[in-house]
Amino acid sequence: MKIVKTVAEVREQVRAWRAEGLTVGLVPTMGYLHEGHASLIDASVRDNDRTVVSDFVNPMQFGPTEDLETYPRDLDHDAALVEAHGGDLIFNPEPGEMYHEGFSSFVDMTVLTQELCGLSRPVHFRGVCTVVSKLFNIVTPDRAYFGKKDAQQLAVIKHMVDDLNMPLEIIGCPIIREDDGLAKSSRNTYLSAEERQAALILSKSIKLGMELVKKGETDSSKITGEMTKLIESEPLAKIDYVKLVDLATMQQIPALDRPALCAIAVYIGKTRLIDNFFTEDV
Ligand code: PAF
Repeated sequence: MKIVKTVAEVREQVRAWRAEGLTVGLVPTMGYLHEGHASLIDASVRDNDRTVVSDFVNPMQFGPTEDLETYPRDLDHDAALVEAHGGDLIFNPEPGEMYHEGFSSFVDMTVLTQELCGLSRPVHFRGVCTVVSKLFNIVTPDRAYFGKKDAQQLAVIKHMVDDLNMPLEIIGCPIIREDDGLAKSSRNTYLSAEERQAALILSKSIKLGMELVKKGETDSSKITGEMTKLIESEPLAKIDYVKLVDLATMQQIPALDRPALCAIAVYIGKTRLIDNFFTEDV
């Protein structure tokens, strides 16, 4: 397993693999890898001859008041995890390698990004689409792997790939949870012991929402209302959103009459966490 810092080194390695007729999978990450990322690497190693993991905290997708400076980083830990899971190359560029002086081209999307996280994080998806497009251009993977925990991101990237005729397949992988239900996230590390306990309210409300759907409830406001009530019972929790949206448009829907996503974002203290379920998975 190799770690490289430059676009030229990635290109050289991928060119050599291509010359041998090998397929390439890409797992884009911001590092501080956990078992959620490991499951994406496992899927890529299963499907492709070689796997590249990008490890880059992308400044462009953070708003001015967000956690860019404090976002956790640990390349040694990441390298050990990638190696243990059979990844072949880590691309760990400095910001200047990705965004040179005078950088001024962006990939933006006018649909799918207006709701959910796009509302509370207005610059986020432009930053994600731009960096992911760059990574696709640099690595030229056959397949790229994204977690369903960031369900809106997954939908946005699939849409971008379709809109821009990008020649690769996007694979969405299931949410990986701690034993007590909390969805794995690099940001869980910000939580104090008390907040870690309080954060369970997210997965409990997801479970409640799924139970209601399983029982046949189709009224969106009843489902999100019950989930909201439960989250509000936790004093350390502050809701950003609890919404049921059309999976294809990310627009809110009054009734569950089509494939939908139930997505929540909740602050536990200062830490913003997300979770969700797809109605088709219930
Ligand atoms: O999901 C993430 O970790 C990031 O948004 C991604 C896709 C690596 C782009 O920086």
